Amino acid sequence: MEGALVARDKVGIQDFVLLDETTETAFMENLKKRFDKDLIYTYIGALVVSVNPYKDLDIYNSNQMDLYMGVNFFELPPHIFALADTVYHAMMLELNNHFILISGESGAGKTEASKKILQYYAACSPETDLLTSVRDKMLMSNPVLEAFGNAKTLKNDNSSRFGKYMDIQFNSEGEALGGHILNYLLEKSRVVHQNHGERNFHIFYQLVEGGEEDLLHQLGLERDCLYYNYLTQGECAIMSSINDKNDWKTVKNALKVIEVSESDRTDLFGVVASVLHLGNVEFDPDSRGNASLDNNTELRWVSTLLGVNAQTLQEGLTYRKIRAQQDQVLSPFNIDHAIYVRDALAKAMYGRTFTWLVRQINESMENKDDTMKMVIGLLDIYGFEVFYVNSFEQFCINYCNEKLQQLFIQLTLKSEQEEYEAEGIEWEAVQFFNNKIICDLVEERHRGIISILDEECLRPGDATDLTFLERLEEKMGDHPHFVTHRLADITTRKTLDRGDFRLLHYAGEVTYCVVGKRDRHTQHTERVRPSQQHTGRERPSHSKYRERERPVQVATQFKSSLLKLTESLLAKDAWYVRCLKSNESKKPGVLDEALVRHQVKYLGLMEHLRVRRAGFAYRRRYEVFLQRYKALCPATWPHWLGLPMDGVQVLVQHLGYMPYEYKMGRTKIFIRHPKTLYATEDAFERCKHELGERKMCCYKAKGELKKRKENGERCHPRRSQARKEVERRDWAVKVIKKFINGFINRGDARSTDNSEYLAFVRQSYLNRLKLKLPQTVLDKTTWLTPPSVCQEASELLRKVYYRLMVRKYVRGISQQKKGQLQMKVVTSAIFKGKKDSYPQSITRSFLDTRIVNGHLVNLHSSQTYSVPVVKYDRKGFKPRPRQILLTTSAAYLVEEAKIKQRVLYTSLKGPLSVSAALFQGDLVFQCDHLFEFLTKLSMLANKQNAFQVVKGSITIEIQSGKQGAVDFTTGPEPLVYKDKNGHLMVVRHPPPHTPYPLKSG
Ligand SMILES: Nc1ncnc2c1ncn2[C@@H]1O[C@H](COP(=O)(O)OP(=O)(O)OP(=O)(O)O)[C@@H](O)[C@H]1O
Ligand SMILES: [Mg+2]
Repeated sequence: MEGALVARDKVGIQDFVLLDETTETAFMENLKKRFDKDLIYTYIGALVVSVNPYKDLDIYNSNQMDLYMGVNFFELPPHIFALADTVYHAMMLELNNHFILISGESGAGKTEASKKILQYYAACSPETDLLTSVRDKMLMSNPVLEAFGNAKTLKNDNSSRFGKYMDIQFNSEGEALGGHILNYLLEKSRVVHQNHGERNFHIFYQLVEGGEEDLLHQLGLERDCLYYNYLTQGECAIMSSINDKNDWKTVKNALKVIEVSESDRTDLFGVVASVLHLGNVEFDPDSRGNASLDNNTELRWVSTLLGVNAQTLQEGLTYRKIRAQQDQVLSPFNIDHAIYVRDALAKAMYGRTFTWLVRQINESMENKDDTMKMVIGLLDIYGFEVFYVNSFEQFCINYCNEKLQQLFIQLTLKSEQEEYEAEGIEWEAVQFFNNKIICDLVEERHRGIISILDEECLRPGDATDLTFLERLEEKMGDHPHFVTHRLADITTRKTLDRGDFRLLHYAGEVTYCVVGKRDRHTQHTERVRPSQQHTGRERPSHSKYRERERPVQVATQFKSSLLKLTESLLAKDAWYVRCLKSNESKKPGVLDEALVRHQVKYLGLMEHLRVRRAGFAYRRRYEVFLQRYKALCPATWPHWLGLPMDGVQVLVQHLGYMPYEYKMGRTKIFIRHPKTLYATEDAFERCKHELGERKMCCYKAKGELKKRKENGERCHPRRSQARKEVERRDWAVKVIKKFINGFINRGDARSTDNSEYLAFVRQSYLNRLKLKLPQTVLDKTTWLTPPSVCQEASELLRKVYYRLMVRKYVRGISQQKKGQLQMKVVTSAIFKGKKDSYPQSITRSFLDTRIVNGHLVNLHSSQTYSVPVVKYDRKGFKPRPRQILLTTSAAYLVEEAKIKQRVLYTSLKGPLSVSAALFQGDLVFQCDHLFEFLTKLSMLANKQNAFQVVKGSITIEIQSGKQGAVDFTTGPEPLVYKDKNGHLMVVRHPPPHTPYPLKSG
């Protein structure tokens, strides 16, 4: 996708997921835009959509293969090689099995795609003799199987008429060691019958057109396709688009590569020629109208080539042997029946030969190394097809396609859902057509079409094609995907014959003709079998007639082989190639929009796209996302040392992603709209020059690799990669071991065993300490407990750190603050621990003076502090408002600008207690700012140690010789009053302002 992002404005969008709209129109426009520029591949996430170009594009050469090798799937433009490479790497990474499901209708390009993938894996494979030989065999199996199993149809000049599933087997080093092919239901009816415009299997024409004179002579063949009945029914034996002569050479060579011995090759061509001869066997009516054969030349050739007694062969083709008690009675065939038996023999011979050939290929590519660990499977099966007349074969083919569609639906929806679940992201359901209903219609036990076909074939009595149809109508008359002439409404009825039934497949309607279905469903045991001598090891030997043998039901067999295939595929990881046919007339560069739109619809591509985008258009593993975009954020560039997920979080926050634009899964980031990503990508483009250097390195490395290759040096990039990986692991093991050793010996003196570990411990302690230092000088508890190796250092550091904090604090305070603090120190000396209200006073600042605009006497410039007080008379404790002024040398008691009393500081004798006289004569007054006043006074008078705080009660002298008292108590309200006992009561609670008796003495 990253590549797609770069090229998004050039030729459409390389990944449909990034389309702004998910409409069919937008989808088609993009597809067409790209197709017009010969860009036939486009992604939907990891799914490859391929459009058949019907022309050779120069995009499959070895340079292209090199380009895609080992490159991230989304880094380069979409390509089938990118998928092949990704699957390979996924297999190597996860060490599990994978398969690539290639689907699409007939002629869409499935076989071509599977060949390209195989070629890619062959090219990746290292150049050892053994591997080269396996690789050649795998590659050469294709022309052989295509010659025997492909044919020209109306849909495709090289249509696969059998299903093929091929496993490519890899060892744990990723070397392809072998392969195995499973083949499914060959369309044998083609051997004896072809529709107009179609041909028999290619091999017949190749042999007749390309076979050497000697060989043809040996096989009794004419060099003329038109001479053979089995080759001319479609009336297109010779086609300019098919070069049978050249293909013959390829096939002959391929047979040698896959180790078919010369004698087996002779036998093989003998069977092919026998089929052609059989097709020309014609029966004459005898006097009773029964089929007779008199000294037939063609039959003689068959007998010679197959090593069968001519008489036996003749009898087999014209008589049925009936056992009547102990005797055998020969019952003659009529001509139609004889032709039927002849054709059945030809089909059976060809079918068995094909199976033998597949087995032969498997033997030759068999993996002899039992270290084989993993496989990549390639599934290339005949595509969905609709002809004018559709028979049993089309029924099986289309049923097979239904099954694969079902598998696709199951796997894609399931895996998407699982991904959201696994990542903890909410899932939004998308509507889609589930074709399970059609699969059930065909295959359900006891009720499906195949079961009914079985029953009808085995039922005693007069079962016919029409009774089969009736049974179908009876069982599934109301099924929404099933219609017959009788069940249809008037308009539909006109399009159906009485012997037809129609199925509404996921890919469209197909009308099947029931005539002959039962016959083809029943595989007739051959009545004449080729001899072992002539037809290879596995060929059946002559056997007795087995009329009583229960016939094998072909569709049932097919059904169970498909079930088995589905099971085996479900156990592997799936990847998809969806092939689209561009036009019906096989013209290069033409895109028939209606045709393609139809395929897009029924293949469920829109649903797939919507499912991919249901929540989020783009998702990427954190590592990959961070790797690509880390240059965009200073915190993540050039290296992010934390978890990738955290790195991505930092990155997207730096990029300004809004919370609704993305979600963080467990391993991936999910981005909702393409435009968010485009913005990121644009930013990335702008700062790309920073990545230039890295790219240069890449080019250099590639250049070197190329040079080495050109110099004939063997390059095994995967091997060297693997070696590096092993070295990396060895290194990791050493480091871990050393760490554990260090841990064990951590208490010992420093040695080589533990030095690195201790260094790590020290560093880690310091790193942690750095983050957890105390923030204030007063915090004496927050200090990280050190490991024993750091104890001494920790203590030193702690002291240094606190000193540093103190220094910083001291340097940071102002002159004013300093003065305040000095005063507070004095206050503390006087009051700390002696007066209850002291702690509350600590934070309160002292003012310079308390009376700013009052009736102050202008004493002289030395006045420094003033404060209002309430003075209590000694007689009767009557309160009188007064002011106290402090100068540098004396304290003054003032009443409205009149000095009432002056006390020189020098006259204050120490040590002074609060209960002792402070001034000359006793003085009782209440001051709201006691701490401030006393601090200032003590500092000005330089009598810091003169005060003693008194609690409870103090005695004062009222008149000379007469004593009075001041009692201190607590109460809800602060009060000062004269009590009945004549004492002055001072109630404090809370005690913000305490009247204080000062007694001079
Ligand atoms: N990538 C391609 N490049 C060029 N031509 C292609 C490509 N894919 C397909 N074709 C052309 O289309 C023809 C049909 O393709 P192919 O045989 O792969 O179809 P298919 O899907 O296998 O059909 P069927 O189901 O009938 O077997 C090929 O013979 C080839 O001429
Ligand atoms: Mg094919």
